[in-house]
Amino acid sequence: MLIGFMGCGKSSVGRLLARDLRWPRYDTDELVAKELALSIPEIFALGEEYFREAESAALTSIGGTNPAVIVTGGGIVLRPENVRRLHELGTVIWLQATHAVLQERLARGKYRPLLDTADPAATIAALFAQRHALYQEAADLAIDTSAMSHQEVAQAIRHELRISC
Ligand code: S3P
Repeated sequence: MLIGFMGCGKSSVGRLLARDLRWPRYDTDELVAKELALSIPEIFALGEEYFREAESAALTSIGGTNPAVIVTGGGIVLRPENVRRLHELGTVIWLQATHAVLQERLARGKYRPLLDTADPAATIAALFAQRHALYQEAADLAIDTSAMSHQEVAQAIRHELRISC
């Protein structure tokens, strides 16, 4: 299970891991968008709370019996019930990156409704400060991805979990 701030590489690393291990991949953002047949920005336009409810329901819907790669949205750690569910599902891996690296990656990344503000850099800084401790608390394992490629991060995860393919 991959957690971490927007832009830390969860989606790309999750895809690589799932491909290499031939494990199914579940992505809570994708599950939410599919369930509601709306894009993430469209769901946010209905209110963040609406998105958070759907996100928790998506996480609950993932069965924990078979090995799988689970990718979560950056805000999954905001609800303690989600964190409990993550631990039921398996090892929680935090893809860390420094604030400066995240700022840089997010400036050229995909559109994110939470960062659609007058000053996205200040929004990132505020969310980063708010959430850092939540990721730290939720994580079984942390990997600093700041200077790593997605492939290196995937390899580091396999190494840490002692999974070969
Ligand atoms: C969010 C992160 C996004 C997505 C939504 C909210 C957040 O996912 O779930 O826009 O609260 O950090 P990524 O972390 O994949 O960008």
